[in-house]
Formats: sequence, C-alpha cells, structure tokens
Amino acid sequence: MAYAAEVTLIAVAIPVPAAAAISRAIESARAAKAQGADLVEWRVDSLAEDPDGPTAIATLVRDSPMPCIVTVRDEREGGAFSGSDEERIAMWIAASEVIPAPAYIDVELSTYHTRSSIREAINRIAHAKSTQGKSAHAVDQPRIILSFHDYSGRAPGLSARVAEMWADPGSAISKVVWTARTVRDNLEAFELLRMRAKPTIALCMGEHGLMSRVLAPKFGGFLTYARIDEHGTAPGQPTTHELIADWNFRAITPRTKVYGVVGFPIAHSRSPAIHNAWFRAANVDARMFAMAVAPVWESFKATMAEMFESPVLDFFGAAVTVGHKQHAIRFVEEAGGVVDPRAKRIGAANTIGRGADGLLFAINTDVDAVIDALAGAAMRGKRALVLGAGGAARAAAFGIASAGASVVIANRTMNRAEQVAEQLARAAGDSPALDVRAMELSALGSQRFDIVVNCTSVGMEGGGASSENPLPRGVRLDDSSVVLDAVYAPAVTPLLAHAAACGSRCVGGFEMFLAQARRQFEAWTGSPPPTGGPPCY
Ligand code: ATR
Repeated sequence: MAYAAEVTLIAVAIPVPAAAAISRAIESARAAKAQGADLVEWRVDSLAEDPDGPTAIATLVRDSPMPCIVTVRDEREGGAFSGSDEERIAMWIAASEVIPAPAYIDVELSTYHTRSSIREAINRIAHAKSTQGKSAHAVDQPRIILSFHDYSGRAPGLSARVAEMWADPGSAISKVVWTARTVRDNLEAFELLRMRAKPTIALCMGEHGLMSRVLAPKFGGFLTYARIDEHGTAPGQPTTHELIADWNFRAITPRTKVYGVVGFPIAHSRSPAIHNAWFRAANVDARMFAMAVAPVWESFKATMAEMFESPVLDFFGAAVTVGHKQHAIRFVEEAGGVVDPRAKRIGAANTIGRGADGLLFAINTDVDAVIDALAGAAMRGKRALVLGAGGAARAAAFGIASAGASVVIANRTMNRAEQVAEQLARAAGDSPALDVRAMELSALGSQRFDIVVNCTSVGMEGGGASSENPLPRGVRLDDSSVVLDAVYAPAVTPLLAHAAACGSRCVGGFEMFLAQARRQFEAWTGSPPPTGGPPCY
C-alpha cells in the first residue's frame, strides 16, 4: 500500500571538505533557511578522512541552524570519500552523540549491504535508546536514509533496488537519484513515489530532471534538493529561492496540472517563466516545464504520448516550438483529436491542449501573433520575404499573405520552401489561394522587400548560428521596410542590428512571442492571462 502523503521538505546539500570550512558552511545554511529551506545535508566526504573529522562533525551538528542529514558519500556513488569503514563509523558516532542528534544519516545501499560492520554500526546508532542528560525522555536518534545514485543514466534493475530499500526494516527513508536520459524518466520517478512503501526520495538529475525536483510534492516525495550557489551538489538543482519564488513550490498539490514547452533547443525558452507567472497571478494550479525533445517525429510522439497518457501526471497541454510544429498536427490527428482548420491548412500547430471533452486539440496561435507584432504595417499589395520553412515560417507566410501581401519564402533547404509555397498557394477548404512562392536564397539578389520576417533559428541564443544574420547580403532594406525577427533571445539579433542600420522599422520577436503565448494561455484555461503588473520573467 502506498505511504500517506506528507509535506515535501526542501533540503540544501552543503559540502564541508575541511574543518576550516565549517563557519562558512553554517552561514550558507542560515542563508538557505532564511530563503525557506527546511533541512541541511552536511556532505562531509573528505572531512571524514581527516583525523579531526569527528570533532568537526560534532561542531557542525551542534551549530546546524536546521535539522540535518549527515552524509559521507562514497567515491563509487559520486562522492569524494575513499577512506575506511572505521572512519565513517567514527563520524556517525560523533554526530549522533550531539544533542539533538542529526535527524538523518544517509548511507548508500551498496555500502550498507556489502559491509556488515557498517550495517551493524548504523543500526546500533539508529536504534539506541539514549537517555543522555538529565531528561527522562529518550533523545531522538538519527533515522537512516538508504540511498542509490547513478550519475551516468538509469541503472538496470532500478526498481528492484528500490524494492530492496523499502523492504529493509532498519531504514526509515529510501532515496533513489539518477540522471534522466530524457524528460520521460521523470515519469518513472513519479511512479516510484506513488508506489512507495515508506517515505521516499526519487529525483532525476541533469537538464531533463527538473520536473522531478519541482513536482516532488505532487507525488508526496519526502524531500527535494536545492542548491545554495551556482554549483550545487548534483546537476539540475534549482536554488531554494527559485523553488519558492519562481515555482511556487509550497503551493504544489496532488492536483497541480502540468504543461510543457517542447522544442530543440529549448533551454533559452521564456515560456515556462511567463506561463508560470500567469498561472500564479490567475490562481491556476498549474506549472509549465521546458522539455528538450530531439527534433524527430519518433521522439516527439513518444514524449507526448507518455505525458498525455500518464494517469497521474495531469498533463494538460504543450507549447510546441522549434522542430516540432508539424509533428504537433500529426500527433493530434493520430490521437483522434481535433486539429483547427487553419493550423491544418498551414501544416503546423504551436499549441496542443486537452478540451473539456477529453479530446486533444491543436491550434496555431503564431498567425495572429505575427499580425499583432506587425501592427500598423500596411500589407495589401506589399512584398514580403519570409525566411525559413518550418512551422513559424508557415504561420507567418499564411498570415501575411492572407492580409493581402505577396510573399516570397526562402530557406536554406529549397525543397522545404517549395513545399510550403505550394501548400499555401493552393486554395483549400474555405481558404482562398494565396500569393506565396519559393525562391532560392541565392536568387534573391538585390531585391527590396517591404516586410521581412525571420522564422529560422539563425541568430538564436544557444543555437548553432547565434552570431549570424539569416538575410542574404544583397537584399535591400530601407527606411520604409519593416523587419520582424521571430527570434526573441537575444532582444537585438544580428538581423535586427542590420535592419536598424538600414533605417528600417524593427520589431523584436518578444512582442510576437507574448502575443502567441497569451492565446495559448486562453486556449488552455478559458480566460486570457491576467493584465496589470507585468509577469516576473
Ligand atoms: P519552427 O517549426 O519553429 O519554425 P523548424 O521547423 O525547425 O522550426 O524550422 C527551423 C527553420 O530554421 C528551418 O527553416 C531551418 O532551415 P532548414 O529547413 O534548411 O533546416 C532554419 N535553420 C535552422 N538553422 C539554420 C541555419 N544554421 N542556417 C539557415 N537556416 C537554418
């Protein structure tokens, strides 16, 4: 039977490599407590090999500003300790003789199971009925956390190890931490928490694992780790401040809904910050996470299927970006959902949601966002150049051509541009034929355009071509041209810097980004995002 839910604690792990580092470590723990942390884990791997280690650990435990975990992490599980069993045992005894004793002692499952001296010593410490001092009451002894770590990925037999930890009568808490290979690994961590037979910590490390750290309270995780500085003790930890202020960690409930922004690359995305700020301001119990998903159909399909089909995640929607906007249409069609006719016509969707009827839907909020961002620019009879042939380019070309302009699509890969032009130029359903044609980038020569929209990822922070300008050299811009760069990070891209130098009107991608995000929020929640103070992004 699953263990009853309890409040998920925030623990900060602080390495204390030597006795000289104690006062700084105590200060850091005080600062973390002031930010809202509940527990400190003293990582005393190297200190345990120091002859003064036992005296130092006693000082740390006595002066600890919060209840603490004492951990001497072995080299084989990502720590720095390579000393003897006696050294470890001496640390635990010294720590547990302090009143109050540490709340927890962490020991790796592998050490605990293979070393009888360790097992016996730790069980003695944990089960000693101490009546030290004048008090007639027993003093609480540390409880044992049995732990298992895999920094290289997900170890085979993970669930068997967890079952072994749960079954051990000597331990109070089970901890399993591994490096997520993809965002899908988080679901296994949640499943372990849901099935727990005793208080459990199940966390994924690395860029894909943030969801497991933030959503631990949704599944009753015993604790989550936060870092105190830029390093932390494991990859992917947020700071205590980020957990509390940005993620509103204390308000996460078993019913919290989950959204994702899916793309590749995705780390730069502002979608989580913006939607999370809007969710909070509008009192919507939901959180959005960045999900890096390789830009191939199989990865998108597998990720979306697992998220939407999870019976426990409450996954209600995805913002779909670089690399997957066409996949979004296919996914919703194959799932028997409803694809908005305009998104279908364009062949790209940037938003997937789940309707009240339970069916998935796909819409494209980029079209109106492009028109919003170009507000005031005359379109009828004008010449526009759209750079790129992905989902954003399709939406921009469709929106601008529908407003009466003649659109040229140019792209690094010519046949993709031709496909887009051919699809949009053809009348479909209620949609009339549009004036859209494809041209080779090299054939643009010295043509002039009234409107230029960059829908490639060239110029994007974190992308492969961040310092490049996607506009071929000869193309002319002047003071009556309008240039929109859908790339919004950085705010001034190489293209916009060039356009400004030509005297053109520059429109940054952030306006377009906000406009499409507002419509996504409304599609998911039924109401536009709250107005008033700007969201804190
Ligand atoms: P989205 O759906 O968000 O528009 P996408 O489908 O991945 O994203 O499209 C990205 C666009 O950026 C494509 O037009 C791509 O060109 P290719 O079709 O030739 O792949 C373009 N792009 C990406 N990196 C580029 C680069 N380094 N130089 C030129 N174009 C690039």
